[in-house]
Amino acid sequence: MSKVIKNGTIVTADRTWKADVLIKHDKIVGIGPDLHADHEIDATGCYVMPGGIDPHTHLEMPFMGTYSSDDFESGTRAAVSGGTAMVVDFCLPSPGQSLLEAIQMWDNKSTKATCDYSFHMAITWWSEQVFNEMAEVVDRGITSFKHFMAYKGALMVDDDEMYSSFQRCAALGALPLVHAENGDVVAQLQAKLMAEGNNGPEAHAYSRPPEVEGEAANRAIMIADMAGAPLYIVHTSCEQAHEAIRRARQKGMRVYGEPLIQHLVLDESEYANPDWDHAARRVMSPPFRNKLHQDSLWAGLQAGSLQVVATDHCAFTTEQKRFGVGDFTKIPNGTGGLEDRMPVLWTFGVNTGRLTMNEFVAVTSTNIAKILNMYPKKGAIVDGADADIVVWDPNAEKTISAENQQSAIDYNVFEGIKVKGLPRTVLSRGEIVVEDGVVKPKPGHGEFVAREPNAPVNRALSKWKEVTAPRKVERAGIPASGV
Ligand code: URP
Ligand code: ZN
Ligand code: ZN
Ligand code: ZN
Repeated sequence: MSKVIKNGTIVTADRTWKADVLIKHDKIVGIGPDLHADHEIDATGCYVMPGGIDPHTHLEMPFMGTYSSDDFESGTRAAVSGGTAMVVDFCLPSPGQSLLEAIQMWDNKSTKATCDYSFHMAITWWSEQVFNEMAEVVDRGITSFKHFMAYKGALMVDDDEMYSSFQRCAALGALPLVHAENGDVVAQLQAKLMAEGNNGPEAHAYSRPPEVEGEAANRAIMIADMAGAPLYIVHTSCEQAHEAIRRARQKGMRVYGEPLIQHLVLDESEYANPDWDHAARRVMSPPFRNKLHQDSLWAGLQAGSLQVVATDHCAFTTEQKRFGVGDFTKIPNGTGGLEDRMPVLWTFGVNTGRLTMNEFVAVTSTNIAKILNMYPKKGAIVDGADADIVVWDPNAEKTISAENQQSAIDYNVFEGIKVKGLPRTVLSRGEIVVEDGVVKPKPGHGEFVAREPNAPVNRALSKWKEVTAPRKVERAGIPASGV
């Protein structure tokens, strides 16, 4: 069946214009005036934008002794309800586990997704087996590898392992990602705070100051440069890390930064809340920061030194958060945000004049589609692209509340925030999954998106590294050894 989105204004990362969009099956097949089809979707007064892509989710992830509570069913239902039509989740082998076995686990979990998804692979340990399996992982369309510089004793990898893995990424045309925090220093700060009786959720933030993130960002950037790989720094939360990214980019390095919607809008005062549950529900790494850091992140999105807004959606119930009563280091780290990312960013970004509508599309969809080498299949309104589309009503309003959210948890970190700008209709590869603001989940409709290695930036960087590689100076005569 064909569909047409009529009477709307198309907004992409680089253009805004009035046109209809024709869809056949799962693809966009026409853009222009006065198009017709079997089914009409009215977009009067609305913007027609590429569906959002959230490149950072943890659905049903085993972590800190439990599992994150949104799975691929509730997680992708939450995603589409907020205008996000694709998620990229982290496939997480436990240390010692085969990467291929972990893919099998993630394949099994993701069968109930309502929207399309892809995976990043986490490198949680290092060996010849991991080195070898990385090639197979890339062959299966997973071309980005995440490295945790924190979570000592669990997921953390050291510099030696990271350098080896980054070199392997460079050789395979893949993209390394890092969680940038100095895990050794965090572990010692945690122990010190606990020994001093500082055991509440606020101590989580004290144990992870911005300097700890900035140092790790600088170190990862240096290691990526030595390895000849581009680098993507997830959940960039502070000026110190942003500064490192900014400086690297000014030097011509291929480094990307990803602020989260939570860090842009929520600040460190949340941890001072007298209600233990309130503060613990906001425990995530890196923690929320102060206004100066938030201003830096917004400026980075405006300047282009930061490219993507994600969520790091990793939702734990209040009951799960209470594992850490009396010991903040046991509070499962993570917050939700999948269904709120786009409305909150529109409200605090576009409605305030911090971002243009086109910049909004760039940072919620198009930039990451390019970085992850799946553009223009995703992230574009163009003939032949997947029909992942959001019809956005800039006048629709709601107050965010856990009472009417899709996510499986019992609270929402954005509770009480009024947003203006919401999806009216959302299409996932041509299927209507939100209609007139009502979610119509289609578990099982979502497909895995395999990605090709050797994105344009990988190719350019490897060429540049080849051109500038150290070369032996050939000399006609070499003096006799002085020994
Ligand atoms: O606190 C967080 N961010 N939890 C999810 C895992 C991670 O570090 O990304
Ligand atoms: Zn007509
Ligand atoms: Zn992380
Ligand atoms: Zn994460």
